[in-house]
Amino acid sequence: MELLGDWKRTNYCGELSEIDIGKKVTLMGWVNRERDHGGLTFIDIRDRTGIVQLVFGPEINPRAHEKAKKVRSEYVIAIRGEVKRRPPGTENQALKTGNIEVWCEEIKILNESLPPPFPIDDDSYIEENVRLKYRYLDLRRPKMQRNIILRHKAALWVRNFLSSEGFLEIETPFLTKSTPEGARDYLVPSRVNPGCFYALPQSPQLFKQIFMISGFDRYFQIVRCFRDEDLRADRQPEFTQIDMEMSFPHEEDIFNISERLIAGLFTELLGIEIKTPFPRLTYQEAMLRYGSDKPDLRFGLEIQDITDIFRSTNVKVFREIIDRGGRIRAIRIPEGHKLSRKDFDDLTEVAKTFGAKGLTWFTLTSEGVKSPLAKFLGQDELAKLKEALLSKEGDLILVGADENEEKLAEFMGRVRLALPEKLGIKLEGYKFLWIVDFPLLQWNEEEGRYEAVHHPFTSPKEEDIPLLDTEPLKVRARAYDMVLNGIELGGGSIRIHNKDLQAKIFKLLNISEEDAKQKFGFLLDALSYGAPPHGGIAFGFDRIIMLLAGESSIRDVIAFPKTQKAVCLMTGAPSPVTPKQLKELHIEVKI
Ligand code: AMO
Repeated sequence: MELLGDWKRTNYCGELSEIDIGKKVTLMGWVNRERDHGGLTFIDIRDRTGIVQLVFGPEINPRAHEKAKKVRSEYVIAIRGEVKRRPPGTENQALKTGNIEVWCEEIKILNESLPPPFPIDDDSYIEENVRLKYRYLDLRRPKMQRNIILRHKAALWVRNFLSSEGFLEIETPFLTKSTPEGARDYLVPSRVNPGCFYALPQSPQLFKQIFMISGFDRYFQIVRCFRDEDLRADRQPEFTQIDMEMSFPHEEDIFNISERLIAGLFTELLGIEIKTPFPRLTYQEAMLRYGSDKPDLRFGLEIQDITDIFRSTNVKVFREIIDRGGRIRAIRIPEGHKLSRKDFDDLTEVAKTFGAKGLTWFTLTSEGVKSPLAKFLGQDELAKLKEALLSKEGDLILVGADENEEKLAEFMGRVRLALPEKLGIKLEGYKFLWIVDFPLLQWNEEEGRYEAVHHPFTSPKEEDIPLLDTEPLKVRARAYDMVLNGIELGGGSIRIHNKDLQAKIFKLLNISEEDAKQKFGFLLDALSYGAPPHGGIAFGFDRIIMLLAGESSIRDVIAFPKTQKAVCLMTGAPSPVTPKQLKELHIEVKI
């Protein structure tokens, strides 16, 4: 191993080009690949900008050549040499620097490396657990470097944009009280307050509302949030939000700034134009037509309600469901007769996973409508079906029915999502939309109480306030989500700024006055001191980067993510602590 001494890097490897031919350079980086060929030694040296080929030979410098023969993959080296044009016929078009190479007069081996457990390239398949354990090596791979650099650029752009729009970035505490966003809290015990715990914030929700009461008018923060919830490809226990709040806003103001933020970011980083304003769908319509509150609009195949066609049906299953107030829905698939028996069975399985008892189908052939149910249908029903859904030969409809409309929407939505793969439909482009008019409340069957669909600080629509006393489930919220390609990018709402209305909502949610005081007393107090109308939104920053980078998991855009079991495979967190630490925290562990 040698010391850096007075060597100073003159260039990044991947930034060298034909302009540099003839220049003496000093480069530093990792050995990507080494090979001997025709008496010469070739080393590909890599840094965060890319790779360039080094050439060592007895004619260039015999001592350097001998030393170069000793290097292995992932050794850290420094070289001095001259940039030359590659001999004709030896150019490498796959490499940005493929027309040049560096003839090396000197080399220092700054550090050795064990043989890496996987190749540091983008082509090899590497098990994710291995990647996460050796994350420092995984992060050396060009793709991961690109993702992390993209993340930096995105954060910088967001900061500049929001700052130029008058938003102030203000930090909020991590050691705080519980904020109800629907997940479990991560708790931190307080040593000096025995038996008391901080909660890591699920979001800065309450603090950002307090900033509005404090007169800051426009706040944002690129901020870490913590939620102890079941993890998926787009969920991590700690994740990052672009969190925003404004005073005196109308929904339109929030839509406008959000669209300019997100569309601007996509244009900046991908160089693509995103059309604004984004289309809007009410929650109800989204559930009906797509069976989801985050519909993927990259393909059609909408769901249609066909209950009316079967109002006086003799088909027993339909009859029973309709009589119990249920609905019948269909997805029309042009050329759907191409779906195989197995495809249909797979789709039925999808539906069943989400609560369906089954699915059925109708198709139009040259001999008329065919279906397992065809012989039970009346002429009138068949005619109506044909008119509404089966206009062309080969058309097929998948039909589901259920007494429970929510369940029906969900499983038809899941079936819809499974169709592009079955039909060979390629999903392309970026389809943004807003979902608006969410219900304010939902009924929690297990706990026998209402709960907030968004969070308890969301304002009901003014015209729906009287319904709070009569039909709370019909009350619509001033809440909105931004959706991209079937993924919820962000969500927010206009908040309650009136203390009495907030108290009323707590009551509806079965949060006692005492409980409300204990949990959110500071907010209720603050609302009594001149709270302006306010509202905001928060975007999932990791999800945005995932979509910008074309990845399918947010783990690929977070430097040190956790596994599905919330474990960091590199550090081994979480881990047991010493009895002394537990004693200091007044904690006893019982497993
Ligand atoms: P919400 O809970 O909808 O709203 O969160 C906002 C956005 O954060 C992202 N997100 C996540 N990303 C990764 N991992 C997770 N576990 C995770 N959970 C959420 C999603 C989501 O749309 N305080 C409100 C915002 C507001 O009302 O202004 C809030 O946190 O992209």
